[in-house]
Amino acid sequence: MSALAGMLGEIAGVGADAARGGFSRAGYSHADRELREWFTAHAAVRGLDVERDANGTLWAWWNPTGSTEPAIITGSHLDSVPGGGGYDGPLGVASALVAVDLLRARSFAPPRPIGIAVFPEEEGSRFGVACLGSRLMSGAIDPSRALALTDREGDTFADIARRDGLEPDRIGPDPRRLDAVAAFVELHVEQGRGLVDLDRPVAIASSILGHGRWRVTIDGQGNHAGTTLMDDRRDPMVAAARMIVEIRDLARRTPDARATVGRIEPVPGGTNVIASQVRFWIDIRHPDDLITAALVSEARDLVLAAAREEGCRADVREESLSPTVDFDLGLRDALQASLGDVPELGTGAGHDAGVLASAVPTAMLFVRNPTGISHSPEELVEDTDAEHGAAALADVLQGLASAGAEAAFGHRPMMAR
Ligand code: GLV
Ligand code: MN
Ligand code: MN
Repeated sequence: MSALAGMLGEIAGVGADAARGGFSRAGYSHADRELREWFTAHAAVRGLDVERDANGTLWAWWNPTGSTEPAIITGSHLDSVPGGGGYDGPLGVASALVAVDLLRARSFAPPRPIGIAVFPEEEGSRFGVACLGSRLMSGAIDPSRALALTDREGDTFADIARRDGLEPDRIGPDPRRLDAVAAFVELHVEQGRGLVDLDRPVAIASSILGHGRWRVTIDGQGNHAGTTLMDDRRDPMVAAARMIVEIRDLARRTPDARATVGRIEPVPGGTNVIASQVRFWIDIRHPDDLITAALVSEARDLVLAAAREEGCRADVREESLSPTVDFDLGLRDALQASLGDVPELGTGAGHDAGVLASAVPTAMLFVRNPTGISHSPEELVEDTDAEHGAAALADVLQGLASAGAEAAFGHRPMMAR
């Protein structure tokens, strides 16, 4: 078994979800804490200095030359969607640690620091906003809005962050830390069939589809399933059913669009109870941000119309929105120079690298997923491909860390400060 497979094997029991299958590792949960301890222990074994920043991101530093140059950062996340696969996030974190081992075995001493970052709440499974840690760091979400977010139990992010050892007053944009980053490269399992179809183990990312999440709340009249005649009902569940089909049809008639309703919560949720309220979440994605905006506007209209037809009231709220990202061309060229002939692939999945692209030059590497399935227990990476990915990451880190201070890591975007 490779070192990488061994490391992922160590966490195979953490957050394992017997009911759903796969892993449920919500941000700031017990499982998430165990995974952070696992990462910290592996960093310590390697003599890396670990710190946790004000937004809860873990940083492990390798800086044998004591350089004060801006760093090359790699890493990913350890939280998961409910019932997710074992590679989405942890593969990038474990590969980063293995890449450091490979570089040491080559007797490479990086002339600028190399850091491994583990970003919290990437999936947004707990507080609803994807990539919460990188959004906070880059200023893409207002800290006061973030602190007021609530989880399924009604606990605020402020409460959970405090319980997790963070200081809510210190949560927010961190331009000084961003200024110390020359480039960020995230390795990730590919979440579709791109590399299977190309018959290649590794790709460089070209783009991320623009995407966002909207929460729909439908209010009706809670009532008795037996005594309420069909014509007398104001049933938000029926309204939701109409909306979900219409949203699917909207995306189907819009080329390149994707729309998903993957979470629905009836209140109170009894078999013999007409719900008084239903909440559901829409995930909409499209390469053209203007078309995404038009899709959201159309989805809102059809939600409001379907609610009216069922005698209900509906409200649609944006929870997060990320524009389409085309990864930095200069950095992509630098990765190509380190790796030789590697295909470039776009993705429909969101990542911290996409959020950070607004603040620092970022790039991604994808590793083949033979099932082409992700956000599911069926997500898979073969050991040999994982090793190939970690070696590619080591090559990329070596190339970028060796570049002089004057090196163009690509265009440095202006961050709103
Ligand atoms: C995260 O993986 C997302 O694309 O929603
Ligand atoms: Mn991920
Ligand atoms: Mn994911």
